[in-house]
Amino acid sequence: MLFGGSEQQQQQQQEGRRHVLELGCGLGLCGLLASQLNPHGVVVLTDGDELTMEKLAVNVEENTVRNGCAVTARTLLWGEHVELVTEFPDLFDFVLAADVIYEEEAIEPLLKTVMATLREGPEALFLLSFARRNVSIEKVLKAAKEMGLVYEVDESFVCSAKGEHVYVMRRAQQQQQQDERGEEKKEGASGESSDSSSNSARDDDPPLIT
Ligand SMILES: C[S@@+](CC[C@H](N)C(=O)[O-])C[C@H]1O[C@@H](n2cnc3c(N)ncnc32)[C@H](O)[C@@H]1O
Repeated sequence: MLFGGSEQQQQQQQEGRRHVLELGCGLGLCGLLASQLNPHGVVVLTDGDELTMEKLAVNVEENTVRNGCAVTARTLLWGEHVELVTEFPDLFDFVLAADVIYEEEAIEPLLKTVMATLREGPEALFLLSFARRNVSIEKVLKAAKEMGLVYEVDESFVCSAKGEHVYVMRRAQQQQQQDERGEEKKEGASGESSDSSSNSARDDDPPLIT
């Protein structure tokens, strides 16, 4: 769904300009799948562990599809992103992180790297797939809010356990702009105003952070 996206995103997809960054990619499953959905785009797979990087290189070699997407792997410890940003100054439309938070100390450097690598603009998304390990999602969402991100839960993701979700995050300022555009559209269509739908809560969600 997310890679299908809005009209602007679909146009970008057709033009093949999507830049995707995966943080803590492990053996690269998410990023490699993203590359299949992103012909003519760019996917950069990163992890901070050297042994993992060696195995990842084999996976990239053996599983990259020939669809014009440029797939590369880089060693990246969260918080140490200067080199990456220098190499990819246009930054990324999507930053992915799947099952990567199991130490509280990791939250801040991870989010700093997200903020340094995520493009400006309402279409740029940080997609965090979260499975609870040692750290509660409340701590992650609080830190994300302090860092300038807002979130919503991706309802299209069918989770296997209570509390497992994909969080779709974007820069707070840009969420506001998108909400305002949505409001204008709705008002134009119905002549009425309505509430914002961002940060929508679910029964098994952590407390809503606005
Ligand atoms: C549980 S694995 C998940 C791997 C992959 N995302 C997946 O879903 O299969 C967590 C990954 O995060 C990486 N990681 C943990 N802390 C990191 C850090 N501070 N900087 C970069 N990578 C880190 C680990 O090396 C590991 O590959």
